[in-house]
Amino acid sequence: MLGKKPIVVVGSINLDLVAVAEKIPAIGETVIGTDFQIHPGGKGANQAVAIARLGYPVRMIGKLGSDQFGSQLRGHLESARVDLVGVGTSDGPSGVALILVSSKGENSIVVAPGANGKVTPEDISENLAIIREAGIVLTQLEIPLETVEYLSSVCARENVPFILDPAPASKLSQKVLQQVDWFTPNETEAAFYGAENDHHSRSATAADTAEVLLRRGSRGVVLKLGSSGCYLASQAGLRESIPAFAVKAVDTTAAGDAFNGAFAVGLMLGKPPRESAIFAAGVASVSVTRLGAQPSMPTMAEVNSFMDSYSATHS
Ligand code: RIB
Repeated sequence: MLGKKPIVVVGSINLDLVAVAEKIPAIGETVIGTDFQIHPGGKGANQAVAIARLGYPVRMIGKLGSDQFGSQLRGHLESARVDLVGVGTSDGPSGVALILVSSKGENSIVVAPGANGKVTPEDISENLAIIREAGIVLTQLEIPLETVEYLSSVCARENVPFILDPAPASKLSQKVLQQVDWFTPNETEAAFYGAENDHHSRSATAADTAEVLLRRGSRGVVLKLGSSGCYLASQAGLRESIPAFAVKAVDTTAAGDAFNGAFAVGLMLGKPPRESAIFAAGVASVSVTRLGAQPSMPTMAEVNSFMDSYSATHS
């Protein structure tokens, strides 16, 4: 991979506390779980690890806390070969996520941001050299919005392609959307961003939502639709539905992160957007067959073997 421009991920780093139960409890309900595990997570760190596991060079900009979790998380990322040149430490706790996973692989997550909430526009300025050297900058919304807004303007000014995974859903300015090359919401987030437009109906299809997002300024949109695959649209005229690979999901946590990291890798390897999305769907499919966020990210060899055996048995 020598000579390849790195992908730079600007985003969150969390410790995930994962409880598995038959079902996710309703408000006021207690259920007895079947398993508990602790994993490294955080949407930013997951996407960085997804990229590194695929063998592509990746650098991260973010913040860890001064607690014990901070040094554990740093160690995990280093051993996954994520370059942490832009990851600082701030006084106080690291980010933590409380995750509930049902027997169907569904999840619900609460994030306590900790140090992720201290990633500032100054951190972006201090790491400008890294951003200038990036082939793609990839971010999410688990760091402060003002930092994402500033990052989007820096990428636009420096002409660095910018992918925004708008998770968790938050109100974004029109200006940010106009600076995005690929906007990659999942179904829940797509409903949120589509509904921000007054004329958008609740029964809107993925294609309708993508048109709204393109009109609001994003140059490209990938709607991640879980077991229904994904839908791609771009201002350059692309309109494409890509079916999912049928697999038995054990844990869908970080499937979107696997997709995003892999989509960026696909683009950096010179694949067209459609082929990058098919590749990313394959990576996400392998990830959902395993428990945990970062431990579920496959290597390139594992993805190739999955895709080969899938096409042999489904053609
Ligand atoms: O996307 C999954 C991630 O969301 C988890 O790893 C958790 O840390 C939260 O950030």
